[in-house]
Amino acid sequence: MSGRKDDDAVAIQNEASRRGVGKIDASIASAPCDADSVPELIKDISQAQGQANLTNGREARLQLLGKARALVQALETPREVMLKHVGAETCSFFSVCLGIDIGHFKAMAQNDCSPKKVPEIASAVGFDTDGLQIQLTPYQGRILRHLEAMGHIAQTGPDEYAPNNFSKSLTIPIVADGYPFYRDVCIAPMLHLHKWYKTKSYATPTTGHDNPFTFGNTTALSMFEYMAASPTYMEQFNHHMGGYRLGRPAWFHRSVYPALPDLLNNVPDIEDPVVLVDIGGNRGHDLENFLASNSWPPNYSRRSTDAKFILQDQQAVLDDAPSSLDMRITKMPHDFFTPQPVHGARAYYLHHILHDWPDEWCEVIVNQIKGAMKPGYSRLLINEHVIPPKNANWEVTYLDLYMMTLFGSRERTEHEWRALLEEKCGLKIINIYNPGNGVEALIECEVSV
Ligand SMILES: C[S@@+](CC[C@H](N)C(=O)[O-])C[C@H]1O[C@@H](n2cnc3c(N)ncnc32)[C@H](O)[C@@H]1O
Repeated sequence: MSGRKDDDAVAIQNEASRRGVGKIDASIASAPCDADSVPELIKDISQAQGQANLTNGREARLQLLGKARALVQALETPREVMLKHVGAETCSFFSVCLGIDIGHFKAMAQNDCSPKKVPEIASAVGFDTDGLQIQLTPYQGRILRHLEAMGHIAQTGPDEYAPNNFSKSLTIPIVADGYPFYRDVCIAPMLHLHKWYKTKSYATPTTGHDNPFTFGNTTALSMFEYMAASPTYMEQFNHHMGGYRLGRPAWFHRSVYPALPDLLNNVPDIEDPVVLVDIGGNRGHDLENFLASNSWPPNYSRRSTDAKFILQDQQAVLDDAPSSLDMRITKMPHDFFTPQPVHGARAYYLHHILHDWPDEWCEVIVNQIKGAMKPGYSRLLINEHVIPPKNANWEVTYLDLYMMTLFGSRERTEHEWRALLEEKCGLKIINIYNPGNGVEALIECEVSV
């Protein structure tokens, strides 16, 4: 056995040197990635235990999660990581997608999520004629078996499963719809990224119309045009935007934008003041949450009824907004590449808009808003990630790569934001409030008087 092992190691080394790779001992691939840091990480984790309010204490939970993730990464071997990347995680992603398509998770949630045998789950999703059940039950059993191995459902007995909180959440459309959306719209561009790069001599994509998205999906349409042509994709995307922001501190939270009271208290006592225009606000979730947070009215009773909150987006998106939207919100179709029709609002809000567009297009969007801002009074609030110089969070780094692939755009560093907003658009950045931990910052700007 040991002779065979040595032969394998030699073959690996030979291949490595043939490819010009330095002498890295092949044995590291089957040893823990970072055994030395394991004792310290275990100590940190046991100290954190009991201190953390894991349900409500976001910061404490994230800190503990960071340590726990570091511990897993330290204990895993490179071989295990490699197999997870190339096999287990892709099977997991596509199994979840299939489960959503055929209704596995909804079937498992029936009867108060009680444990169910595989044939019962199969029959609940409609594969209940003899022939189909005989053919499909073992197949579904194999999918469920992998989902359990990856921790996505619980096994309660041989051939018997129950959903855990993750799989229960897959019955909620704003959580589930991101899966088919990424599978059908976003994965092909990533899959073909290397080929696109090769055809472009490895230049960074910088446009919405000739980029890995158009290449991977063999279309001439930009991502937003592509979605607009498909009600299914549009609905899935809109739901995903709602799911994305679940449980994250919103822009109006004290931990993100501590200067909000100043902004609101300085709305003058005039007829129908426009407090906030949410540009590209999708189905209205950000405005809705803001109004539900009771941040408004600050101190003046009259304004609670008179003040205006405007939701702008493309007509098709506004049509998909819930009918239960807060009465104080006015829906207004608006193309943000055209002049902003609402003049002199206290604040114009852009959440996850500029990261969809390369700088030249951002300049057009910002200049259209600038034309409507009242100098010395109106603020532009940009709620976007500001990538830190070190240790960027995965929630930012993955999004940056998808922005590049889907839109030819980017998440931005502080330097890049200043270059865009101050140097190119001529705005004054009053402050950048950056809560860190993968949460979008609030960049507060004004036009100079
Ligand atoms: C990434 S989403 C952000 C949505 C929302 N602000 C949020 O953070 O949840 C981008 C939004 O921009 C909208 N959009 C795209 N092109 C637009 C245009 N030309 N004019 C207005 N809205 C547009 C899309 O419909 C979508 O709702």
